[in-house]
Amino acid sequence: MKFKYVCNDCGKEYGSSDIMYRCPVCSGTPEDSKDEMQKGNLITVLDSDYLASLKTSSINGKDVTPSDFFPYPVPDIASYPVGNTPLIKPKRLISETGYTGLLLKNDGANPSGSFKDRASQLVAAQAVHFGENTIALASTGNAGSAMACAGAAYGLDIILFVPETAPKAKLLQSVLYGAKVIPVKGTYDDAFALSIEYTKLFGGINRNTAFNPMTIEGKKSVSIELYNQLGRKAPDVVYVPVGDGVIYSGVYKGFFDLKEAGLIEKIPKIICAQSKKSNAISKAWRTGELTTIASASTRADSISVASPANGRMAVRYINESEGWATEISDEAILSAQLELAKSAGVFIEPAAAAAWGAFRKDAEEKKISKDDSIIVLLTGTGFKDLAAVETTVTIPSSIEPTVEAVKKLFNT
Ligand SMILES: Cc1ncc(COP(=O)(O)O)c(C=O)c1O
Repeated sequence: MKFKYVCNDCGKEYGSSDIMYRCPVCSGTPEDSKDEMQKGNLITVLDSDYLASLKTSSINGKDVTPSDFFPYPVPDIASYPVGNTPLIKPKRLISETGYTGLLLKNDGANPSGSFKDRASQLVAAQAVHFGENTIALASTGNAGSAMACAGAAYGLDIILFVPETAPKAKLLQSVLYGAKVIPVKGTYDDAFALSIEYTKLFGGINRNTAFNPMTIEGKKSVSIELYNQLGRKAPDVVYVPVGDGVIYSGVYKGFFDLKEAGLIEKIPKIICAQSKKSNAISKAWRTGELTTIASASTRADSISVASPANGRMAVRYINESEGWATEISDEAILSAQLELAKSAGVFIEPAAAAAWGAFRKDAEEKKISKDDSIIVLLTGTGFKDLAAVETTVTIPSSIEPTVEAVKKLFNT
């Protein structure tokens, strides 16, 4: 498909015949941008005639699919079936809150257990398109395990640089899928820099989040899916948990493309849900100062980001979608996780629970209408981080294998 790249910051345009990462004009070195949010991330702009043709085929009865909006064709979709995740109508939560149009999009149901499969699917497609067999990246968790999963499905070599302190379950998962996992005695930024050096030295594709524009582009598939699941309609409001701001921007981009194609009239309000202990994007949106924060320390490790890799674009899209940012405490995140498990049967990781917690807070403050069509995007399964729930629930003590013991337990 015909497309071009446009820099989010300077607006310079680039052709798409080569693999492109950040805008060479305005992206600085990490040292330059220590306090400022990183500049130069690229937006993938699809050909407008092509988008218009999608409207014609939709009028003629053909449903659009995420693949219709992807810059590269996804090979053998059935071998790594990403997306088409369940849209849950949480009966008990609806009756308790009175929000009749509330739906939960459970992206923990993706092949590797998180939303990150959406980006990995398109980066794998990019690799196949360019005849590359190796993909390198830095990650602290879900992106790494998603890329490793895609690598296993497609037979691609995945080189994964991780800070040695990364969560163990997600690392084990990546090793299990057969990725070459390289723990680094340093920070995520060190791992990021090494992954870029690796691609310079040995070739292949780099999948670092936001650095490779296809990570944003792949994530937009959720919006096209939602459009179909809602009967060719956009919702009014979408809650998204935010760290680097790439998922947020992907969600926006999907609705943007649907609007450009003439399939929807309005982009939903997209709400940026953050932990108070990791609020760089929320703070930048509130103050208008596009700076990083000194440190991030939320228990929701997947959204613990002090220097967001896609902060500028996310802040821009919060404004363009007429959304806002909602910050909640870590305690509220963990109780949101528990509530979704107990009242909807959905077990998600703490980062994903931030979206539900933010919805709860906004509902209490009456920031959203009870008739709105609301999507809460649940980005990852809870099974990868069982330690998080050990602080909120305990396994009961064992009883003797006797009827007496059961009677005693039930006070009879
Ligand atoms: C489960 C989950 N939720 C939310 C996020 C936040 O996404 P982003 O960093 O693109 O804002 C991540 C990122 O790792 C994630 O793994």
